[in-house]
Amino acid sequence: MGEFLITGGRPLSGTVTVQGAKNSVLPILAATILHRGTTVLHNCPRLRDVEASVEILRHLGCRVEWTEDALLVDAAGADRWDVPDRLMREMRSSVIFLGAILSRFGQAELSMPGGCELGPRPIDLHLAALRQLGAEIRDGGGRLRCEARRLQGCELTLSLPSVGATENAMLAACGCEGTTVILNAAREPEIADLQAFLCSMGCKVQGAGSSTVAVEGRQRTHDVVHTVMPDRIVAATYLSAVAAAGGEIELRGVDYRHLSTVTAALHEAGCRIHSGGDAIRLRSDGRLKAIRPVRTAPYPGFPTDAQAVLMAALLRSRGTTVFVENIFENRYRHVDELCRLGADIRVEGRVAVVCGVERLTGAAMECTDLRGGAAMVVGALAAEGESRIGSVRHIQRGYEDILRDLRLLGAQAEER
Ligand code: UD1
Repeated sequence: MGEFLITGGRPLSGTVTVQGAKNSVLPILAATILHRGTTVLHNCPRLRDVEASVEILRHLGCRVEWTEDALLVDAAGADRWDVPDRLMREMRSSVIFLGAILSRFGQAELSMPGGCELGPRPIDLHLAALRQLGAEIRDGGGRLRCEARRLQGCELTLSLPSVGATENAMLAACGCEGTTVILNAAREPEIADLQAFLCSMGCKVQGAGSSTVAVEGRQRTHDVVHTVMPDRIVAATYLSAVAAAGGEIELRGVDYRHLSTVTAALHEAGCRIHSGGDAIRLRSDGRLKAIRPVRTAPYPGFPTDAQAVLMAALLRSRGTTVFVENIFENRYRHVDELCRLGADIRVEGRVAVVCGVERLTGAAMECTDLRGGAAMVVGALAAEGESRIGSVRHIQRGYEDILRDLRLLGAQAEER
């Protein structure tokens, strides 16, 4: 176990339904504790990060159960406000529980999340926002202790549109007296999904998807049933896989509007794409063209999470493509591994230059991070012969069953 064996170099074809979004369900799971009652989540992906959130919820005193096609959280009996260090280490985004716990209990204690495989992951914007809402936060011995006798809504400006800080501020604002207005909020679709969830629970939130989000705090909440939005990065991965290997894919259960920068890049590279309803169809002859520079940016720009998989799709393209990573410092760790397939990629700081090569050949690679690992899978599918990919637990943090989905497309791929 823990290793993927992929035999690439053959076209893929078929239909895949996309799982629910990891980056949407994690803040929603934190938000469930705002309501002293029951939440039912449909389309909840079964992922390691979701299991970590479930463990946190159980630690806080919630009852959590998986049914056949949903996750049920009963937060009526929640009676703790701390997140143990072990669970904070398991998943960096558990910091999102801070705003929710504070909102419900007026206090919270958790550890500093520390860095991760993408480089330093500061939470200064999260803390600044919570302080503006009235939280007193002390940091000592690696633990963060937050207290708020009274949370008070206000106008707060994020110095950059951080996804996590926007979500944390929204969750804390639900427990505030009065109205909170978050300016320079992140505009990612997952934030709109969090707003949809909070509104179905009885909270008053508006503006998500734009850079100004307003929350009227202290609303009466009620039981809620919500369907998690589709995962646009998983969708981008499967589109990139078929673009790289050649063939045809129909992705179902997606919102194509969330993927417009990714499909535009693949179209420029020579893929034929049709989007409509809840589906995207892509056809590729497997030999793409280089494209204009790809610059990652906050939504609606090109997503940093799709940078690695698009890069993998372009390894055999004709010409040279430049990538500029503007969100995270350390997001090219997959490059050395992709070069083992015979790829020609050079990195200098935030810039990576991909010179397309004629052929890739299977190789042994080691996952470095979640999306970097997915890029290795895409590269392996485009490479002739067998590839082995180790440390796939990184991939399993975000993909429910990537091999099952790829086998639906005819890929020869198994886990050992
Ligand atoms: C979320 C996503 C992640 C995605 C990222 C950017 C989740 C669970 N994760 O991460 O998959 O790659 O958005 O789209 O939704 N920053 C600070 N101070 C802070 C917070 C952030 O300097 O307090 C910086 C970060 O270092 C980074 C940038 O802001 O350079 C963007 O980070 P942010 O939007 O917060 O990403 P996450 O919410 O951590």
